[in-house]
Amino acid sequence: MKDLQKLEQLARSPTGDGLARLRSLLGATQAHITEHFRFEEQDGYMDAVRKREPRLERTVQQLAEEHRHLGQALDTLIRKAGAASDVDSALQEGIQAWIERVRRHEIRENDLVQAAFNMDINAED
Ligand SMILES: [Fe+2]
Repeated sequence: MKDLQKLEQLARSPTGDGLARLRSLLGATQAHITEHFRFEEQDGYMDAVRKREPRLERTVQQLAEEHRHLGQALDTLIRKAGAASDVDSALQEGIQAWIERVRRHEIRENDLVQAAFNMDINAED
């Protein structure tokens, strides 16, 4: 996602107005990712995977739970950025770690969709 790339760049090398830009990017990221997670849960891959492969339900549940955790972790980062007086290394590292968690989450989702899809193809052979 574009937000994550921008956020990552800014967290790595904050500019003069870095904190203000960081706060605004964190806010934009929160709006987009909340919408993205809701889409995945309500209209996206989760239902499709459940229908195709009910045995993957547990993994789907874990990924939905991760949406909760990632959302809470982002809330915490937004609070920290709101209270900060500059972009310090703790904030930079917190943002970087969160971005990496989101990326790992996305990889697991892609793997899950692929697993469900491949199983479906095999079942049709
Ligand atoms: Fe997700």
